[in-house]
Amino acid sequence: MRVLVTGAAGSIGRVVTVGLADRGHEVVALDLVPPPEGYQGAWHTADCADRDAVAAVFGAEQLDAVVHLAGVPGEEDLPTEITSHVITTAALLDAMVAHGVGRIVYASSNHAVGRTPRAGLDDGLLTTDVRPRPDTFYGTAKVAAEGLLSLYADRYAVDAVACRIGSFLEEPQVRRNLATWLSHDDCVRMVEASLTAPAPGFHVLYGISRNTRAWWDLEPGRAIGYDPQDDAEAWADRLPDRPEDDVENSVVGGPFPGESFYRPAL
Ligand SMILES: NC(=O)c1ccc[n+]([C@@H]2O[C@H](COP(=O)([O-])OP(=O)(O)OC[C@H]3O[C@@H](n4cnc5c(N)ncnc54)[C@H](O)[C@@H]3O)[C@@H](O)[C@H]2O)c1
Repeated sequence: MRVLVTGAAGSIGRVVTVGLADRGHEVVALDLVPPPEGYQGAWHTADCADRDAVAAVFGAEQLDAVVHLAGVPGEEDLPTEITSHVITTAALLDAMVAHGVGRIVYASSNHAVGRTPRAGLDDGLLTTDVRPRPDTFYGTAKVAAEGLLSLYADRYAVDAVACRIGSFLEEPQVRRNLATWLSHDDCVRMVEASLTAPAPGFHVLYGISRNTRAWWDLEPGRAIGYDPQDDAEAWADRLPDRPEDDVENSVVGGPFPGESFYRPAL
């Protein structure tokens, strides 16, 4: 597949571009910043929120699919979040429809449901058929981006897989990560499964490894062929207890629902 990977210079993008190329896909990279030194392959330095810039990339490249990773990965003001996650997704979706590109894999986030308390979850696992429950403006923008993907799936039959990523890290760093960790290799597995699953339509999955202490249901991922192999449990004895662990483990968004994130929207 010839795949446009946005946010290719970022932490996830650097792993996914290499991982997809290793699996035989042809990667066309895009980022606000120029390619890292030595990068080989097609690269567009462009802003995904600029619809003309995005349209120019689609005009210049023959593409089969998009992996949309570009965006700020944390809490900023609401307009920044909306531009970064919703406007960028809109520009890509419009270009996909105009050029007949039928598949998008989106880096959504656990913060789309981060305000959900863990107490009372069936089997301790959060499924994907729950109310969107964002914990921040960041999470709110992810919910809105998922809504736009759903709209374009219904209107234009675009296949759109929203991966609600947990914590993408080389290794778990705090006890919450025993539940939320997404390993580098599993991230590539998740993206490839989302790219190649036959006709998923609009589909939401949780992007975590097969963690023994997982908070999120892996079945929606497995249903489209995501077969995670790594487990954060191997780090359980090495992670120290911290005073903030209890609070971070009480809602699925970890620290994000906390009052330190409260601020006016505008
Ligand atoms: N890292 C995680 O654990 C995690 C968890 C959940 C969701 N996500 C989501 O995954 C995506 C990638 O996260 P990351 O950790 O790699 O972030 P990152 O900040 O390391 O990388 C993001 C990249 O996107 C680029 N970018 C930002 N805005 C852009 C724009 N408008 N046009 C083009 N390029 C732009 C940046 O230059 C950067 O290279 C984000 O959407 C983030 O919200 C990440």
